[in-house]
Amino acid sequence: MQTTVVDHPLARQALTTLRDVDTDRTRFRHAMDDLAGLLVYEATRSLRTEVVRVTTPLAETEGLKVAEPPIIVPILRAGLGLLGGVLRVLPDAPTGFIGVARNEETLQPEPYMNSVPADLGGRDALVLDPMLATGGSLVHACSLLRDRNPGRLTCVCVLAAPEGVTALERSGLADELVVASVDHHLNEVAYIVPGLGDAGDRLYGTA
Ligand code: PRP
Ligand code: URA
Repeated sequence: MQTTVVDHPLARQALTTLRDVDTDRTRFRHAMDDLAGLLVYEATRSLRTEVVRVTTPLAETEGLKVAEPPIIVPILRAGLGLLGGVLRVLPDAPTGFIGVARNEETLQPEPYMNSVPADLGGRDALVLDPMLATGGSLVHACSLLRDRNPGRLTCVCVLAAPEGVTALERSGLADELVVASVDHHLNEVAYIVPGLGDAGDRLYGTA
């Protein structure tokens, strides 16, 4: 698995806003949305393109378009925080949803939804989840996708713990991980340190 750490100054700035305990929910959502746009830029580098003709006001010339946009798969809930920023640059991409909640006692992923088509026909997939902690949730999502005949599987995360990167790599399910930072460690309750806290709660609050 190829791991790409996006350490562009604008990505680091957005990440700093996300980390800050004093960032309120509105600013947190905006910073996540900004960061999604920067992460997807790296995550789509290897997309196949096709040549098209385009007429400018002055002449006809050659241009490019993405041959087949990847399916975008946000992991509910927190993956939704990255979806808008990704669809802004890939407006024709289809979206499938996978719902997985980590059981905070056992740390095991508990699936509750899957709307990904049964056969992806070799289409590439971008899997969105801001947090890769133990790796249980993302490995679960990638294994569901692997059973559905995808092309290249790229995971797009904001933060990862080294333990999560190792788990995803060992699973052999993902082709690439694009992430803004690989943080220091997981604490005793499997939160990423220094991290940003609970991504889903910071985006959407608790009921
Ligand atoms: C968070 C996060 C990941 C998962 C990471 O989701 O968004 O999906 O935990 O932890 P793991 O790598 O140890 O599996 P959570 O289960 O809290 O659900 P939510 O997105 O609905 O808040
Ligand atoms: N899920 C989160 O939202 N944050 C973490 O640090 C770990 C899992």
